[in-house]
Amino acid sequence: MKILLIHGPNLNVLGKRDRAIYGDQTLAEIESLVVKRAQELGAEVSAFQSNSEGTLIDFIQAETPKAAGIIINPGALTHYGLSLRDALEDSAIPVIEVHLSNIHAREKWRRKSVIAPITRAQISGKGVQGYIDALEILVTELKEKK
Ligand code: DQA
Repeated sequence: MKILLIHGPNLNVLGKRDRAIYGDQTLAEIESLVVKRAQELGAEVSAFQSNSEGTLIDFIQAETPKAAGIIINPGALTHYGLSLRDALEDSAIPVIEVHLSNIHAREKWRRKSVIAPITRAQISGKGVQGYIDALEILVTELKEKK
């Protein structure tokens, strides 16, 4: 079972970027924690990050036919990335949206997600644990479906 772990703009600089909000861990560290938990659960993770919406869409279109589910932190595209939303919806596989920070407790414009309506769930404000929760939910549900 392959799960895509996708990160959007500015998440390549995690670890340096506003640590009080996003924590100390780098993207590589987060990815390796998710890969490790996936191995324990018998799943495979394919990780990808881009600062460009079109490149994220190209990856989703190319990879979703071979994947069972998606975990995505879309960064600021969460709030306005309609093309990304359409690509995720077209993929027709379950998507869980993850945010390190609690987007509902920050600036007003961050409270709205254009992605959330097409997702299985949104996990916000749990830091790195949010990715692990997303993975466990996806893998459990996908195993039940089999
Ligand atoms: C974020 C929240 C977004 O509002 C922000 O633009 C990000 C990171 C988070 O993980 O908390 O880049 O998705």
